[in-house]
Amino acid sequence: MLRVSLHSSLSIVSLCVSPLTHSQERAFVGFASLVKFSPPLPLLPLLLLLPPSASSEERGESAVQQAVVAAEECSVVLNDRSKPAYEVIQRNIRLNGVDGVARASNEDANVLLHRFRFDLVDLDPFGSPAPFLDAACKSVRRLLLVTATDTAPLCGAHSGGFRKYDAFPLRTEYHSELATRILLGKVARELLKHEKLAMPLLCYAKRHFVRIVVGVERCGARRAEAETLRNLGFLAHCFSCGNRFSLSISEFFERGFSQCDVCGSPLRFAGPLFVGALHKKAFCEAVLSELNARNELNERKTALKIVERCKEELEIPFYYELHAVCKSLKVTPPPLNAVLESLRERGFKASRTHFSNTAFKTDASISEIKESVKEVSHRCG
Ligand SMILES: C[S@@+](CC[C@H](N)C(=O)[O-])C[C@H]1O[C@@H](n2cnc3c(N)ncnc32)[C@H](O)[C@@H]1O
Repeated sequence: MLRVSLHSSLSIVSLCVSPLTHSQERAFVGFASLVKFSPPLPLLPLLLLLPPSASSEERGESAVQQAVVAAEECSVVLNDRSKPAYEVIQRNIRLNGVDGVARASNEDANVLLHRFRFDLVDLDPFGSPAPFLDAACKSVRRLLLVTATDTAPLCGAHSGGFRKYDAFPLRTEYHSELATRILLGKVARELLKHEKLAMPLLCYAKRHFVRIVVGVERCGARRAEAETLRNLGFLAHCFSCGNRFSLSISEFFERGFSQCDVCGSPLRFAGPLFVGALHKKAFCEAVLSELNARNELNERKTALKIVERCKEELEIPFYYELHAVCKSLKVTPPPLNAVLESLRERGFKASRTHFSNTAFKTDASISEIKESVKEVSHRCG
């Protein structure tokens, strides 16, 4: 029996986990209250926010840290199909004194997920999570976390986007957001197959990976389908003038857009993907207050910056790279803050985005953006 049930009904599985280090220290980690769960999930390991590290030394700690966090409240299964990784998990569980709560498991992730139901499933394989999504979505009851490092097919740099995610990406300047939305769209459709609704809480991309944190609700097949459809759609992009916009599924099929209404060039499409909100503000705030209270966390500053930006960024499903806009205008890039101010003065919404330090989101059209950037560039130059 792989699942442990001690103090509460909450069960967590952390899959594809390879804790390769064995720290003598008790791992430090924070946790935040989760919102909108009934009954509420007591804890969220903050570590889940931190980027998976490329170094095996650091990689090793996160799984056991999760167990330490969860120790007082729930039961945890840490699974890896590799024997050496499994042995290190066992050692780490002992070193961190969480034997009573956490169990090491040495199975194929799909076998484990098809056999048991878990409240929280955290999936972090090497490369693509696609082969595990069906089983993970079947198993999960309340919270699903998925990491993908196969960003090339997700954002259209290599083929494989359709094979793995049933979606067509596009090579655009906002590829990180496209990758996040394609992964989330796939997860939403997989959950829907099991009559569950995906509610994104915090979804972000950094360096070579995409990480999504999704609340899961069983709300009846019809509501799940209607809500999921409302959040799925396509992005249209004009490679000639840079115009871009999102379309719902029904708009895509019924209105038959084919030409850019700014310059008349053919439009290209990416999707299907998630076009709804990527984050829940209340969730981001809960995570931020926990991060602020925990000086000892690794990569705390990076995590703070990501979550702050996620909380503040506009709910618009794409962004604009300032340098790309300036290149098309043949002007010197002005300070990003000046562009944001100018757009706001003209009555538009504008924000930075966690996806890129040199990009912005706005509800202004491409023509209005270009006008604004040109004016600011001349003024600042
Ligand atoms: C990126 S590492 C996980 C790192 C882990 N999250 C951590 O923080 O320590 C990916 C792991 O997935 C494991 N893995 C790959 N395919 C698997 C499968 N089908 N079932 C279980 N584990 C698998 C590999 O053995 C590898 O150790």
